[in-house]
Amino acid sequence: MDRDGLRVNARRLQRSLESLARIGATADGGVDRLALTDADRQARDALVAWLDRLGLRITIDDMGNIFGLRAGRDEGVRPVMMGSHLDSQSRGGRFDGALGVMGALEVMRVLEESRVVTERPVILAAWTAEEGSRFTPSKLGSAVWAGDLDKEWVWGRPDRHGATLLEELERIGYKGVSPCARWPFQAYYELHIEQGPLLEAAGRAIGVPAGIVSLHVYDVHVSGEANQVGPTPMEGRRDALVAAAEMVLAVRALPSTAGGDMVATVGMLEVAPNCYNVIPEDVHFTVDLRGWDEALVERSWERLAGEFRGVAARHGCRLHAEESSRTGRTEFDPGLMRRITDHAEALGLSTMSLVSGAGHDTAHLAGVGPTAMIFVPSIGGRSHTPAEETGWADCAAGADVLLRCILEASGTSGD
Ligand code: GLV
Ligand code: MN
Ligand code: MN
Repeated sequence: MDRDGLRVNARRLQRSLESLARIGATADGGVDRLALTDADRQARDALVAWLDRLGLRITIDDMGNIFGLRAGRDEGVRPVMMGSHLDSQSRGGRFDGALGVMGALEVMRVLEESRVVTERPVILAAWTAEEGSRFTPSKLGSAVWAGDLDKEWVWGRPDRHGATLLEELERIGYKGVSPCARWPFQAYYELHIEQGPLLEAAGRAIGVPAGIVSLHVYDVHVSGEANQVGPTPMEGRRDALVAAAEMVLAVRALPSTAGGDMVATVGMLEVAPNCYNVIPEDVHFTVDLRGWDEALVERSWERLAGEFRGVAARHGCRLHAEESSRTGRTEFDPGLMRRITDHAEALGLSTMSLVSGAGHDTAHLAGVGPTAMIFVPSIGGRSHTPAEETGWADCAAGADVLLRCILEASGTSGD
């Protein structure tokens, strides 16, 4: 068999992505497929049907992670894995996560139709609740699988209406029977859109991230005093929202003085009672700090927390701030990264080394075995929005690189 001649079917990959994008489609061209909703269930059902049609051995664990295994010649050796996630942000795009799963499905289809015999088993993985949009923190399925988070704790995570992750897993029928637990693997590759502007700006086809930035999330609660907005003089008010607004600006200002490559964001803010004629009493917001230099991120939070205390005191408000999640910096396997670059170049694709600013399930997989990611360009650098876009040819190019990496790692022989 001419391994080097194998290519993914670009039109079939496009059709898979388009058909997945219809599940939870929004009128503005995006998707709303929050984890463990009915739309997520439909996407899972579609994936399971596709895997079943290929004759793969399907396993669903009790975190709802879906695995499709294609047997190798030798069942006793470590498998090769690839995958990503099917859930999306509430106003998300069609490619984030979807490309990694549909790209892996396309690789499986090529292996099957070309009757490729691999030495090692090859496993496709679709991880539960990656986005952190409905259940926090993010990457829950892969974190439990890798042993980084406790399963009982994760099962109990509530969405904003109080439904727990376990209840929703059971409701959609995806609490599988096999216990969610790691196993050793030979290599794990995740194909993903870049979600940033670098590849497009540089005119490169394939990004080879060296790793993923460290990602710290904090919950901040500011409490003031509610009162009638009309009779209450401006002087002496304890307005929690005004205090929080100053804190948001402090977050915005942080990266320009902290040095390094940090980014800092307040993406979620809740106001109570949230009424035009009541002085805001309670505000809850999140602070997301990311950077390659973990110690800098740590120090920056200390500095920010000090500023928050000063702001709260000036406004007569109480402050409670705590870390809600942390993913340490991930460094990918240099050997796997080298292979991605070599295979891309052999396919005539230009490459670029970068760092992922977005979190990925691969961060947890990296604690179990050798991992790497394959990035393709995001048009306009847009992601986590319906405007998210990637060219079909770029999707296929990334999947071709994934195919080659999987063929090599799984030890292909002719048949
Ligand atoms: C996940 O998409 C993240 O980067 O937070
Ligand atoms: Mn993703
Ligand atoms: Mn995402």
